[in-house]
Amino acid sequence: MIVLVVGANGATGSKLVEQLLIQKHKVKVIVRSPKKLPELWRDNDSIQIISASVLELSDIEMIEIVKDCHAVASCLGHNLTWKGVYGQPRRLVTDATQRLCSAIKSNNPRKPIKYVLMNTTGNRNRDLNEPISFAQKCVIGLLRLLLPPHVDNEKAADYLRAQIGQNNDFIEWVAVRPDSLINEKDVTSYEIHTSPTRSAIFNAGKVSRINVGHFMASLINDNNLWAKWKGQMPVIYSKSKKD
Ligand SMILES: NC(=O)c1ccc[n+]([C@@H]2O[C@H](COP(=O)([O-])OP(=O)(O)OC[C@H]3O[C@@H](n4cnc5c(N)ncnc54)[C@H](OP(=O)(O)O)[C@@H]3O)[C@@H](O)[C@H]2O)c1
Repeated sequence: MIVLVVGANGATGSKLVEQLLIQKHKVKVIVRSPKKLPELWRDNDSIQIISASVLELSDIEMIEIVKDCHAVASCLGHNLTWKGVYGQPRRLVTDATQRLCSAIKSNNPRKPIKYVLMNTTGNRNRDLNEPISFAQKCVIGLLRLLLPPHVDNEKAADYLRAQIGQNNDFIEWVAVRPDSLINEKDVTSYEIHTSPTRSAIFNAGKVSRINVGHFMASLINDNNLWAKWKGQMPVIYSKSKKD
């Protein structure tokens, strides 16, 4: 398969690319600074590096890039600097999702293209009844006011859920919701749930970025796993060593 990854040089995106390469896929990456990429990627025939800022691509360029892709994955996230959090583009993840989906639709693919969005347990799947405590509602309300990236993550998933929906001829999607991200060297056991099993604010679990990358790559690679989760917002936690 040919897979486009945006946010590919990020801490999670790079793990996703590695997992896709292990699974023998061809990967296209759109990155702002190719110089920062691992040396091994630059000499790898299975990776096509597109040097651009994703939202600065024209519609025609985007349509051309996604034309031969069977799947698109986004690990985009706002850089944790003042400019990254409060500057433009405030709707980085949402706008990239909408524009990439429009580009996919413009190509009228014969089979639906898989779109995998890295999202967050701080976001609820409004297709389901996911109750949260009053205290958590208050904190999430504050995050919406104070942290534009949180709203961006919510809107990106809402776009897939409400606009692309469950019966789109051209796009099928999964929004993966990791809890608190940590770094680990190797893939370990992890668990996937339909909805959070703990509070993302007051009792967050942990998940390694490499496990998130592994799950996202597995969704793309494994049609049975895809059929199980498509149109949903699975939550991922790493299993603790004692489980
Ligand atoms: N931290 C957590 O515990 C947690 C938990 C759940 C979900 N999440 C979500 O997961 C996301 C990814 O996490 P991560 O740690 O892998 O993030 P990361 O390492 O900061 O990666 C972010 C990626 O987005 C790209 N990016 C940022 N601003 C951009 C812009 N204006 N235009 C184009 N590309 C841009 C970065 O590229 P450049 O290198 O070019 O900037 C990078 O590739 C987070 O941002 C968050 O929304 C986080």
